[in-house]
Amino acid sequence: MSALHLGVNIDHVATLRQARYATMPESKNAEPDPLAIASICERAGAHGITAHLRADRRHMIDRDIERLRESVITKLNLEIGNTPEIVDITLRIVPDEVCLVPEKREEITTEGGLDLIAHRKELTPTVKRLQAAGVRVSMFIDPVREQIDAAAELGAEIVELHTGKLANAFTEKFKRFELDRLRDAAVRAANLNLQVNAGHGINYTNIAQIHKIPHLTELNIGHSIVARSVFVGFEIAVREMLRLMENYRG
Ligand code: PXP
Repeated sequence: MSALHLGVNIDHVATLRQARYATMPESKNAEPDPLAIASICERAGAHGITAHLRADRRHMIDRDIERLRESVITKLNLEIGNTPEIVDITLRIVPDEVCLVPEKREEITTEGGLDLIAHRKELTPTVKRLQAAGVRVSMFIDPVREQIDAAAELGAEIVELHTGKLANAFTEKFKRFELDRLRDAAVRAANLNLQVNAGHGINYTNIAQIHKIPHLTELNIGHSIVARSVFVGFEIAVREMLRLMENYRG
C-alpha cells in the first residue's frame, strides 16, 4: 500500500484575503496570496492543491484558479458545482482533477454529499465533457451504497467520501456508527475499482479515526490546516498533518 496522499484545500487563504479585499481584487495590497501558500504546501510535501471555485466567488476568484493552474507542480484538484458557467471555466482551465460537489449559496461550507441519483441526468454530460478534456473526475458523496454504485455507473474515476459526520461524532456509539458506514463505503467503492478519497472536517485529532477506513488514496483537508497555520505557519501545519498520516495501513 502506498502512502496516504494529502491534498491541501487552500480556499480559506482566499477567504481571509476577501474579508478585506473583495471589492479591490486588483489592489497591490491584496493579501494573503493563495498562490504563495500553494507553493509552501508543495514544498512541505503536500501531494496536491485543492480549491473550490464557488458561483458567488466568496473565496477563490477566477484569476486565482488560472494562476494556480500555471504554478501548481503537484496536482490541481478543482471542486465545482455542476453549473454551466463553472463547468465552462473548468474546461478552459483544465485542472488535473475535478471533484463535483453540491453547492448552495447559503451554506458556509459544503454540507452534504452530492446526490448522484437525483442529479444523474445533468451529471452525465458534465462527466463526459470533463473526461474528454483529460480531467479525472471525482464525486463528493455521502458514504452510502446507492451513491457509490451511481458514481461507478456515471463513470467517475474517484469518489471522495464525506467524513463530516464522523468528524462531528463525539460519542463512542455515534463514532462507531459513522466509521462503519465509511468502512463499508470504502470497501464497496474499491471493489468497483474506484479510487477512494475522503474529506471534510478532518483535523489533527480525528485523523486517528480516518486511519481505520480502508482503501484510502487521498485526504483533502482545509480548515484545520489553515487554522493551525495561524499558530505555527503553513509549512509546519502541513508537515504536522503529513506526519499524522504516516503509517496508514490501507
Ligand atoms: N472536500 C470537499 C469536497 C470539500 O468541499 C471540502 C470543503 O471545502 C473539503 C474537502 C475540506 O474540508 P475541510 O475544510 O473541512 O477540511
